[in-house]
Amino acid sequence: MDWDPRQYEQFATPRRRPFIDLVARIAADEPRHVVDLGCGSGATTALLAQRWPAAQVEGIDSSPEMIAAAAATPRVTFSVGDVASWAPAPDVDVIVSNATLQWVPGHRDLLARWAAALPAGGWLAVQVPGNFAAPSHTLMRALTTAPRWSRALGGVLPDEDAVAAPLEYAALLQSAGLEVDVWETTYVHLLDGADPVLAWIRGTALRPVMAALPAGEYAEFEAELGAQLRDAYPANEHGTPFPFRRIFAVGFRGRAG
Ligand SMILES: C[S@@+](CC[C@H](N)C(=O)[O-])C[C@H]1O[C@@H](n2cnc3c(N)ncnc32)[C@H](O)[C@@H]1O
Repeated sequence: MDWDPRQYEQFATPRRRPFIDLVARIAADEPRHVVDLGCGSGATTALLAQRWPAAQVEGIDSSPEMIAAAAATPRVTFSVGDVASWAPAPDVDVIVSNATLQWVPGHRDLLARWAAALPAGGWLAVQVPGNFAAPSHTLMRALTTAPRWSRALGGVLPDEDAVAAPLEYAALLQSAGLEVDVWETTYVHLLDGADPVLAWIRGTALRPVMAALPAGEYAEFEAELGAQLRDAYPANEHGTPFPFRRIFAVGFRGRAG
């Protein structure tokens, strides 16, 4: 599945907000090594480098397109890699993963491993979308199961349990001995332009559909979905309100004594 950095960054400001809210809860003073897992085109990684000017900062993403779009940033290294096979070096004091783990099957086990490996004073902070039951996703999933599309699209989209409930993330991090700070928020983004919800998910949730269909059929799928999304997310005189639930989990390993 390909990613398109320009499409993703079309909504850079509202997409960045959860990352900023997540990182605000990390109280690390002088981490040695900070890693951004699923860093996309590196804009979030650059913010981590600003926040911790003495740290070695690393961004890892499985998309060559995203990594190619990352701007060179002092002290930051970017590499193409799968977070599923990543393991922290002993000096990694801060692990951040924003809006990525919903794409990674088995991410609960990964989180448990990363949490267990965290050194004293270390932080693990993740954010995942909690909107799999929102119309943007239920309409899209329902359409993939319609007779017209089910043969090509059956099973290409993650289902609702692609992410865990906040309580489950809290328990998982606590089991690894971390102090936890877990919460959820529904942002009401106000989007501009025509069909903005379709444009938003074109940069993310629709990517597997795009990858599975020839261009002409994908255009038909989008037209059908777009009409449904316009009804589900009506525009008003201010724009198109787009409620978006997100789940945040931060864990900290205290220093003994
Ligand atoms: C929605 S974007 C988030 C990008 C960035 N973290 C941000 O907050 O803007 C999701 C990113 O996860 C990456 N991704 C998905 N599965 C991955 C995996 N198994 N390993 C590494 N990166 C992955 C995608 O390539 C994509 O860049």
